[in-house]
Amino acid sequence: MNNQILETKINRPEVRNVIITISSVVVLTMVIVLSFWLLPSKNPYIQEVLSYQGNMERGEAIFNVNCAGCHGVQGVGNVGPTLTNVSKRKSEKSIINQVISGQTPPMPKFQPSAEDMADLLAYLRELN
Ligand code: HEC
Repeated sequence: MNNQILETKINRPEVRNVIITISSVVVLTMVIVLSFWLLPSKNPYIQEVLSYQGNMERGEAIFNVNCAGCHGVQGVGNVGPTLTNVSKRKSEKSIINQVISGQTPPMPKFQPSAEDMADLLAYLRELN
């Protein structure tokens, strides 16, 4: 009995330390995830793209020249996947990154002006 009481006393600070360690790790992870999530929005190019409203008709013309070869007219899909409802599946930031990063070959790395990119987004939003 005495032993048990002694053990509980010894263990308590350890339990507290474990809780403190776990909560620090959780908080730290949240801070890291949050900053990664917020960081792309500080990208000046993305900021500029999102500041334009975008012209759907210009976007369609840009799409037909640059993207329709792979994604099909109206984005129905061909070599590249269908882009129907893409703006519901992906955030605008991730669509912009997809277009400008060149990280998903065979899709090339595009360097549209911010205005052209905004027009493309406006067109992609309409592909339902
Ligand atoms: C050479 C062919 C090709 C061209 C040209 C091309 N793409 Fe792609 N695209 C792909 C392929 C292949 C994928 C799938 C890549 C992957 O996820 O691995 C893709 C993926 C995408 C995605 C993500 C789709 C999803 O459901 O996750 C978007 C958005 C996209 N392309 C937009 C565009 C736009 C806008 C253009 C024109 C500026 C373009 N693509 C031009 C081949 C192409």
